Amino acid sequence: MLIKQVGIGMLSIALMAIGVQAETGVATIKGTDMNSLLKGTVTLMDTSAGLKVAAHLTGLPPGQHGFHIHEFGSCEDMGKAAGGHYNPENAMHGMVVKDGIMKAHAGDLGNIPAGTDGTATLEAVIPDVTLSGGKASVAGRAFIVHEKVDDFSQPVGNAGSRIGCGTIVITGK
Ligand code: CU
Ligand code: ZN
Repeated sequence: MLIKQVGIGMLSIALMAIGVQAETGVATIKGTDMNSLLKGTVTLMDTSAGLKVAAHLTGLPPGQHGFHIHEFGSCEDMGKAAGGHYNPENAMHGMVVKDGIMKAHAGDLGNIPAGTDGTATLEAVIPDVTLSGGKASVAGRAFIVHEKVDDFSQPVGNAGSRIGCGTIVITGK
C-alpha cells in the first residue's frame, strides 16, 4: 500500500514536470488572397527536444511550398506584414531542423509538400525554440506558406509570394 502511494506520488510529480514544459499553441492558416481555398492549422507544443510543429493544410496547389515562421504576427498586405524569416541569431537561410538556430533562421522549416488533392502535412521539431520565454520564441509571430519551393538559396530561399498565413497564439500550458 505504501509502495503504491509513493508510486502514485512520483507519477504525479513526473506529470507536473511534463506540464511545465508542455506549453501549446496554434496558428490558423488562411489564404492571403480573398478567393484562395487554402486553409489549415499548425499545432505547436514545447518538448524537451524543442518546439514540435504539426501542420495540416488543404487547398494548396500540388507540389512543394516554402514554409517558414516569419518575424511578425500580422498577415496584412498579402502576408508581407509578417516581415522576414524569424532569425534571432542573425544566421544565414537554411533548414533549422537539421542545422539548428545558429546556422539557419529559427523559422526555416524548409518546404511543405502538397499532394495532387491539395492536402499537405508536416511534422518537425525545431531545436532550441520555444513558444514563449527563452531566447528564441515564436508566440506572436506568423507561419507563412509560399507560392513556390524553398530552394535554400540565399538570402531567403526564393520561394515567391506568400499564399498562406496564420499568427501563432498560445492555447495552454
Ligand atoms: Cu517564408
Ligand atoms: Zn530563412
